[in-house]
Amino acid sequence: MYILGISCFYHDSAACLVKDGSILAAAQEERFTRKKHDPRFPKNAIAYCLKEAGISIQDLQYLVFYDKPFLTFERLLLTYLTVAPRGLRSWLEAMPLWLGQKLYIPKVVKAETGYEGDILYTEHHEAHAASAFYPSPFEEAAILTMDGVGEWATASYGFGKGKDITLLKELHFPDSLGLLYSAFTYFTGFRVNSGEYKLMGLAPYGEPKYKKLILSELVDLKEDGSIRLNLSYFDFLGGLKMTNNRFAKLFGGPPRKPETQITQREMDIAASIQSVTEEVVMKMARYVYKETKQKNLCLAGGVTLNCVANGRILREGPFENIWIQPAAGDAGGALGAALSVWHRYLGNERANPNGEDSQMGSYLGPAFSNEKVKAFLESKGYSYHHLNSNNRSRIIAEQLSEGKIVGYMVGRMEFGPRALGARSILGDPRREDTQTVMNLKIKYRESFRPFAPSVLEEKASEYFNIDRPSPYMLLVADVKEEKRFPQPSDDGLSMLERLKVQRSDIPAVTHLDYSARLQSVNKRDKPDYHAVISEFEKLTGCAVIVNTSFNVRGEPIICTPEDAYRCFMRTEMDILVMEDCILFKEEQPSWEVEEDWRSELELD
Ligand SMILES: [Fe+2]
Repeated sequence: MYILGISCFYHDSAACLVKDGSILAAAQEERFTRKKHDPRFPKNAIAYCLKEAGISIQDLQYLVFYDKPFLTFERLLLTYLTVAPRGLRSWLEAMPLWLGQKLYIPKVVKAETGYEGDILYTEHHEAHAASAFYPSPFEEAAILTMDGVGEWATASYGFGKGKDITLLKELHFPDSLGLLYSAFTYFTGFRVNSGEYKLMGLAPYGEPKYKKLILSELVDLKEDGSIRLNLSYFDFLGGLKMTNNRFAKLFGGPPRKPETQITQREMDIAASIQSVTEEVVMKMARYVYKETKQKNLCLAGGVTLNCVANGRILREGPFENIWIQPAAGDAGGALGAALSVWHRYLGNERANPNGEDSQMGSYLGPAFSNEKVKAFLESKGYSYHHLNSNNRSRIIAEQLSEGKIVGYMVGRMEFGPRALGARSILGDPRREDTQTVMNLKIKYRESFRPFAPSVLEEKASEYFNIDRPSPYMLLVADVKEEKRFPQPSDDGLSMLERLKVQRSDIPAVTHLDYSARLQSVNKRDKPDYHAVISEFEKLTGCAVIVNTSFNVRGEPIICTPEDAYRCFMRTEMDILVMEDCILFKEEQPSWEVEEDWRSELELD
């Protein structure tokens, strides 16, 4: 039985195909259309899912949408009526899309795909909860979801047991931890629904000076972790902005304009809101524990991409184990909706709880065979060499150890926002210059954030203070004390100078508070990548490499050999590996640089 889940029309559209309860394929629409966070109907992602299964749209038994549009419409309508006539402009801007598409999902589905069967709907947070629990390795677990907003819910909790999920309580719009964080994302000059992770990365540079102010003026935080926002400071109800003038006054001036200098104020604001967020999340987690008495916790929703907060839940308890859906944002709603139909609606048992998770490393997207890669390279006349299984990992590891930057496209594409070694750019974490080279010559950004490390799962605890796997790069852990260097004072240094201080023997992946957003790599899910890092360790004694997503700033992560080659040639990447083919930059025919390709990308 095939069930297709769809999420779209807000941000990060996606599709997911489930066959007899197993996740067969899942992908975000942005990877195909090359438009980051593409919210449009996921036509391409659906086509890919069907192709992966070798079926047509009429072979689906169920198609399910991850959200109940009429409830969301009701929220928009009531919100508008509350603030009217203020908010008329944003209301008028939203209406055409609602009246044209969002309220008529069956019509859109039929027009776009030809599907004629019935369409089911889950609630937004039900989809998040299902995406958190069903693929998890737990037979029983508490569930906590937190995001900006679904229909009305902005957070929910409950528990899962076997095939059943019971949601106990919801927090409702406009009281939302996700919207609160996004308001600060906007205020500090980053892009809402996209720059939140930058705000998190900025936090270690600041002092949480405004924390008390936030908790006294903006947020009323209750013991159970629920919050009430003081709406007189926010503008997201009626306006087109997140915060208003009162908010600005509270923080000593207007929001930072995007792309302008980041000052100590923004760093302190980042530290403050991060600290508030962690406090809210910890209170929620403790309350959910108290109410459910479960030892395991499953998480999903955009807020749970905050891996610093996740790291705290793991370290400080009260839960023994946590599992976070790697596609924690709305893309993962497609997966949750499909699994929800299989287990909740149809009543099928889960196949393998209490074993490994069933997310398969989140390598759920398209792969391109050696034959396809070669056919592409040959049709274009691009120069390449063949790697065989005896020398493959060795050659790649040697290049990395010589300081080369390697584009790595192998196996099925990742589902979710993180690159996990299937569509990644790799480098040597020990070198002083890796961070600068990767930022300036590859990603075209001057970032204040270090890169993420990929470490052999069996060696993770030798490098980081962590006692369990972190395969999805959703946990932050500190670099081990013995790997750290004694620190001179950072006083008087600029932000980028502070970033460049060598803080450990793996400086390219160590943040200034010694934290790292690590991915542990295991043989089962990603044998090719595991082999490369193992060879790198044999050569250098270091079981860690730098892993950043295979794209430039503003571009979605690459999907196809064509995307990979284009990114390779546009940047100063030295080497490109696609399946068993290796390409050296100096052997490639000259690449005509398109004058304005970077200005076509919307900066995130
Ligand atoms: Fe959501």
